[in-house]
Amino acid sequence: MKMKKVPAISEEYSAIGFGCWAISGSDVWNNTTDHDSIEAIHAALDLGVNFFDVAPVYGLGHAETVLGQALEGKRDQVYIASKCGLVWDAQKNVTVNLTRNSLFQEIDASLQRLQTDHIDIYQMHWPDPQTPIQETMEALVDIQNTGKIRYIGVSNFSLALTQEAMKYGEVVSYQGLYNLLEQNPTTYHAIDLDYRTQDEILPLCRDKGLAYLPYSPLFQGLLTGSFSQSNNFDDNDVRSENPKLSGPRLGQYLEIVKQLKTFAQSIDKPLTQIALNWLIAEEAIPTVICGAQNPSHVEQNVASTTWELTNDMIAEIDQIVAPYKTSGLV
Ligand SMILES: NC(=O)c1ccc[n+]([C@@H]2O[C@H](COP(=O)([O-])OP(=O)(O)OC[C@H]3O[C@@H](n4cnc5c(N)ncnc54)[C@H](OP(=O)(O)O)[C@@H]3O)[C@@H](O)[C@H]2O)c1
Repeated sequence: MKMKKVPAISEEYSAIGFGCWAISGSDVWNNTTDHDSIEAIHAALDLGVNFFDVAPVYGLGHAETVLGQALEGKRDQVYIASKCGLVWDAQKNVTVNLTRNSLFQEIDASLQRLQTDHIDIYQMHWPDPQTPIQETMEALVDIQNTGKIRYIGVSNFSLALTQEAMKYGEVVSYQGLYNLLEQNPTTYHAIDLDYRTQDEILPLCRDKGLAYLPYSPLFQGLLTGSFSQSNNFDDNDVRSENPKLSGPRLGQYLEIVKQLKTFAQSIDKPLTQIALNWLIAEEAIPTVICGAQNPSHVEQNVASTTWELTNDMIAEIDQIVAPYKTSGLV
C-alpha cells in the first residue's frame, strides 16, 4: 500500500481510504447488507487500508455501529475520522447543530457506537449558521483536551469560515466534494456549495499543510464507467436525489466518461483507477475515501496504488476535461 502524509498530521495514511456512507444500510444505499459491509472493511484492512471516514448521520448511527463491530480487536491498526453537527430527532428529522451542549452529547454517542475511546479526526460536517464558530471551536478544543478526539477538521465550510475556525484552534483537515468531473462544483445534491475546491480550498491546504479529504471521489459510482442513462440504482438509494445523476445532466457527464474510457483503453487501465490516481497525485490529499460495499470494490480500488499517472497522462486527461471546465459543467 502506498502511504501519504501531510505536514499538519503526524501519521501516514494509506493512499486509498474507506468511506462509510455506503455501509449505512439497505434503505440508504443500494441493497447494502451489514455482512457485505463488514467483509469489505476486513478486505480493506487486509490490503493495508488504515483510514476510515464515517459520520453519525450515515444511517442515523448505523454506519458507525457497523464500523465499530468490524474493527473489534483491530482498532489500533487504523485511524477513524468521524463528524459532528448533524443530529436527528425521534421522527428522524435531521438538523444542523454545532452548539457546545450538542457536541458534548454527540461525541460520547459516537465513541459508544464505534466501541472506541477516541476519534482521530473529528470533523464539523456542515456549517451551522445559528452558532458562532468560536463557540463550536472552543467546545471542540475542550473535547480534544479530554483525549476523546485527536485532531479537528472541517467539511463543506466556506474559505472564510474555515479561516475563522483556524483562529480558535488547530484545524488539520478539510473534507469537500472533489473528483475528476467535479473540480470546482457549485452544488452537491440540492445544496449550493459556498466553497470552490480547486480555486480556493486546495490552495489553502497546500499553503498551510492541511489534509484535503475528497468526498465522492468516484462521483458516487459514475467514474467507474459502469453507469448508463438510467437504472443505475434503486429509487430508495440516496443517489437518486442527486440531480447530476439523472436526465440531461447525466447525459452530459456520460459523454465525458465515454471519452475518458477511450483514454483508459489506450493505457490499458480501468477508469476507476485513473480517477483515483488523479486524486492521489495531489500532494494535499493524504487518502482518498472511496465508498465500497464489497471486497471486490476494495481490491480494485486499492490496485490503483500499484501504478501512477505520468505527467503526460495527466495532461491528456486535462485536455479531455478542459472544454467542460470552461462551460462550467466540471
Ligand atoms: N462530508 C460530506 O458531506 C460527505 C458527503 C458525501 C460523502 N462523504 C464521504 O465520502 C465517502 C465517499 O463518497 P461517496 O460514497 O459519496 O461516493 P464514491 O466513493 O464516489 O462512490 C461510491 C460508490 O461507487 C461504487 N464503487 C466504488 N468502488 C467501485 C469499484 N471498484 N467498481 C465499481 N463500483 C465501485 C459503489 O457503488 P455501487 O452501488 O454503484 O456499486 C460505491 O458505493 C463517503 O462514504 C463518505 O465517507 C462525505
